[in-house]
Amino acid sequence: MATNTRTNELSFGEPEQFASSFSSLSKGLKGSRILQIAGQVRELIAAGETVYNLTVGDFDPSMFPIPAGYKDRIKAALDDGQTTYPPADGMPELRAAVAEYASRVWNVPFQPVNAIIGGGARPMIFATYKALINPGEKVVYPVPSWNNHYYTTIADANVAQLETVPENGFMPTLDDLAPHMKDARLLVLNTPSNPTGTVIDPEMLRAITQGIVDENLRRAEKDQPRLFLLMDMVYHALVFGDHRHVHPLELVPAAAPWVISLDAVSKGFCGTGVRVGWGLAAPAVIAKLKPLISHMGAWAPRAEQVALAGFLRDREAVESFQDHLVAGVGERLDTLYKGFADMKADGYPVECIAPEGAVFLSLRLNWIGKNMDGKAMESNEDIRTLLLEKSGMAVVPFQAFGRAAEDGWFRMSVGAVTSDNIRGMFPKVRALMDGMR
Ligand SMILES: Cc1ncc(COP(=O)(O)O)c(C=O)c1O
Repeated sequence: MATNTRTNELSFGEPEQFASSFSSLSKGLKGSRILQIAGQVRELIAAGETVYNLTVGDFDPSMFPIPAGYKDRIKAALDDGQTTYPPADGMPELRAAVAEYASRVWNVPFQPVNAIIGGGARPMIFATYKALINPGEKVVYPVPSWNNHYYTTIADANVAQLETVPENGFMPTLDDLAPHMKDARLLVLNTPSNPTGTVIDPEMLRAITQGIVDENLRRAEKDQPRLFLLMDMVYHALVFGDHRHVHPLELVPAAAPWVISLDAVSKGFCGTGVRVGWGLAAPAVIAKLKPLISHMGAWAPRAEQVALAGFLRDREAVESFQDHLVAGVGERLDTLYKGFADMKADGYPVECIAPEGAVFLSLRLNWIGKNMDGKAMESNEDIRTLLLEKSGMAVVPFQAFGRAAEDGWFRMSVGAVTSDNIRGMFPKVRALMDGMR
């Protein structure tokens, strides 16, 4: 009689037995700190605690759904059988629509050959790093900034982090870049910025972009590898007050060969789970991004591409959606900013940068060295934990974005809260500071 060896459970053994088996890349690549904090917040909510969740870099779809005109077109495209592979560089009608949209928004004459479509902005970032950077080559980026520390690990790059200051809106200047100008291969900028919610001053951007053009003229003489600018603009639709988002090529058209700009439906159309993003670059660069996107299978779903092509061309619907989005996010950011500005005016040790862009605000809790219940606060993590446990306010420290200084700076995000939620939080934060010595 044959013996049945089937069991109901497979045993995978202890995790330690795998330790020597993973690549050095896998060993070096850390999980997201933001997701760890989000997990902790979810546990508190599940345990019935009131949490003011300002950690989420995403939108609550009940408050911020994707545009109806996009959703309806996705459904129609699925019904129409748009369910097979798209071309590796994207559906031609979407490449054309993206070029037209970008030209309209930034007054830069992009053509369809400048566009490539992928499954969100991330595959574009990944592909850019892998297309340009050999192991050991230098990549420069400001800190705090989003996820560059992961992508530089993936590319095995030599990293130069530019420490930024609040006086410059946590953005780098040409002077900050100068020590790396001669040997860097890639500068990565993101504006409006995750995590700081600030927008780069156009004159600072002009100087940097012109600096890249000048450096590449020097390199051209010896045909040395050029310096590129990866410009992450996924939050461009979200700017407030007098702030303006400009494309570097609007400022310095001569930089066209060296600028790769990124955009996606994730933020400007609240579709983080929809997974459509695009890059705009020189055709020779697009040709190198294409096989990387293709071999990863990181293209965007065909139906969502076809639908986006139709939606982007509906200029009125796009603009009215984005006006509505700016109003909703702006109202929350204003409420949040005002609450902390009032605390500062009342003498509390807090500082907040007024809304400029994206869905974030930079908040400084000047609490290092202060005592609570006999315990001195020594690090941003001490502050974060106290704030969460005692007042239910959940934020992400700038350390999660590469900043070293333990000086009390945090990211606050408003994509999943209402202004009423925010207003309910302020008395608790004030009460917490009243108990501090
Ligand atoms: C600055 C920035 N770039 C890119 C992304 C990722 O975009 P996507 O979801 O389209 O991959 C994010 C997401 O949080 C972001 O904050």
